[in-house]
Amino acid sequence: MTSPTTGHTPTGGNSVAGPWNITTSVGLTALAVSAARAVENTRDDALVHDRYATDFVHAANPSHPLPTTTAEVDSEAWVSMVDFMAVRSRALDDLLLDATRSGIDQVVVLAAGLDVRAQRLDWPAGTTVFEIDQDQVLDFKQQVLDADGATPSCTRRAVPCDLRDDWPAALADAGFDHAKPTVWLAEGLLPYLPAQAEADLFAAADKLSAPGSRMAVEALGLDVADRFLDSPEVAQMGASMGCDMRELWNTERRTDAPDELQGLGWTVSHRTLGELASSFDRTLGGSLRDIMAANRIIDARR
Ligand SMILES: C[S@@+](CC[C@H](N)C(=O)[O-])C[C@H]1O[C@@H](n2cnc3c(N)ncnc32)[C@H](O)[C@@H]1O
Repeated sequence: MTSPTTGHTPTGGNSVAGPWNITTSVGLTALAVSAARAVENTRDDALVHDRYATDFVHAANPSHPLPTTTAEVDSEAWVSMVDFMAVRSRALDDLLLDATRSGIDQVVVLAAGLDVRAQRLDWPAGTTVFEIDQDQVLDFKQQVLDADGATPSCTRRAVPCDLRDDWPAALADAGFDHAKPTVWLAEGLLPYLPAQAEADLFAAADKLSAPGSRMAVEALGLDVADRFLDSPEVAQMGASMGCDMRELWNTERRTDAPDELQGLGWTVSHRTLGELASSFDRTLGGSLRDIMAANRIIDARR
């Protein structure tokens, strides 16, 4: 099955079949992340407040229901997913705000999915947030945001494009200025890309990065990805959502993201999700906690 807009297989994964919309294939993963943020919203000690997350899940009405409250979380794997998404989102929120408060006024969210940072973060005046994702995903997101009367707290530019196509051209058309420093975000993206597409993505972003740019990347690494995909709990969670993560994730061997960025001249540091959870006083729970704790958030500087 090919994407109606791009003509190629609708994800970087191994062998995805079926149309790519918000309730199927890789679109469903964006919805699942949103479901985790919706659940987080209902906690007294929430690390992230996403007031649109529940509306996305309800509007999409997936054939296999997703939880939107703690009461609806019915598996240990989902307990882990919620803690993981909360810590990941909060760590990346802090990194993006640090970069923009230090003077970078362009943010590019690669594979934005249902990320509503453009609406929910307190951006410095003059910040522009570019959101790249598939047009079907961005269209769905816009419909829900419009119905909710949501307004961004920055200048927001949606850039519908496949990241294996000429996204730098689409970004330039949307007003991106490569002469200015940028902070890039890749959250929940790398596992979906083939090895070459990942290397090409970093190379293209590097080319567009003026001195002083930063990059925030969630980089599982292949060992952690293998442990995740080998877990029976993950298979069960996928089945309960109506998808097979093995078909969506691409496990081609590749250079580890921090090494790839270092090779391009970036200064790279990282913290594990376990370290970040401790810094937020959050205990990672559920059956996947050890796998989640080993995930890494990369802070790279040009
Ligand atoms: C797990 S979701 C993460 C979304 C968002 N970054 C977040 O954390 O909420 C993965 C996203 O990657 C997008 N994606 C995957 N491969 C892509 C590609 N080749 N081009 C554009 N978007 C892609 C999907 O549409 C989906 O929205």
